[in-house]
Amino acid sequence: MNSRQKTVVVTGVTGQTGSIIAEKLIYLGYKVYGLVRRSSDSPNLKCATSLENLSEFEVVEGDLTDLSSLIRLCSLTKPYMYFNCAAQSHVHVSFNEPVHTLAVTGQGVVNGLEAIRVSGIHTKFLQCSTSELLGNLGNNVGTEETPMYPRSPYGCAKLYGYWITRNYRESYNFFASNSISFNHEQPGKRGPQFVTRKISIAIANIKAGNQGYLYLGNLDAKRDWSLASDVADGMIAILNHNKPDDFVLASGESHSVREFCEIAFLHAGLGDYKQYVKVDPKFYRPCEIDVLIGDYSKAKRELGWEPKVTFKELVQRMVDYDVKLLGM
Ligand code: GDD
Repeated sequence: MNSRQKTVVVTGVTGQTGSIIAEKLIYLGYKVYGLVRRSSDSPNLKCATSLENLSEFEVVEGDLTDLSSLIRLCSLTKPYMYFNCAAQSHVHVSFNEPVHTLAVTGQGVVNGLEAIRVSGIHTKFLQCSTSELLGNLGNNVGTEETPMYPRSPYGCAKLYGYWITRNYRESYNFFASNSISFNHEQPGKRGPQFVTRKISIAIANIKAGNQGYLYLGNLDAKRDWSLASDVADGMIAILNHNKPDDFVLASGESHSVREFCEIAFLHAGLGDYKQYVKVDPKFYRPCEIDVLIGDYSKAKRELGWEPKVTFKELVQRMVDYDVKLLGM
């Protein structure tokens, strides 16, 4: 590697997947610049505290919605790779904040691409796209060829991000790729407002006697869940591929929120989840995707990527992490 090939930009570095990618790249010998939005509690690295004080990691303050921040970031760091992990990533929140979601999750993508173009550098760009692009699959399995039909303001903003990435690839010959990632969760890093972490934290609190019940929305929604660290490996592999392209990263299995609860409560020694879980319609979404399941065979064939951790193991690891954390 020459010195430029060692430089990477990660947006969303304080979040679950961005922080994992940064950790992995530093381990591989890269210098990582993480874009962090200034706020009153800055510098707050949230998921990325493991990176604090590492000489291979540097925070650059800026905002994804501000093109000038990104031009400055790209001109200064001249990254070899740029991982766009930042987003307003909560689907339910996007119904209440559709315009903000569009600015961050949609426009933030073109700002990154444009910053690279204006800076005149050659940078490999990864857009973290999502299975939320696909919408209701019926009995089908989602592939790279599945027609897209997003069902939330978040999905609509991500649709723009997906297509503008392809458009820069086709218009300007950019090495710009999409990961079409299905749900991915990391014990201890997943935000508490996402259903898997909400369940694992509630279980820890119920065990500790701090909480009686857990209120959830649609228990019958089915998702294709993987370990986020496995998915992050796939994202890095996409930019190390010999050509830019789009890849589904998924587990190939779909499980309901109810199944997640069943396994999680049993594993925690609490028995039947029905004793603790109640449905509160306020967690229902105005528009839901009932079932998501992905076919990762292209990623397996071309990148040699496949998920390593099973659904059951993932549930158990998430519960173990939060039970231990609360017990400390
Ligand atoms: N968050 C939440 N809270 N979801 C609930 C609840 C609850 O109390 N009860 C049931 N659910 C259901 C949701 O309706 C949804 O069908 C499912 O649980 C998963 O919800 P989330 O964990 O919030 O994730 P998501 O599937 O909406 O979106 C995640 O995965 C996408 C990839 O498919 C996010 O990480 C997105 O950013 C990502 O793009």
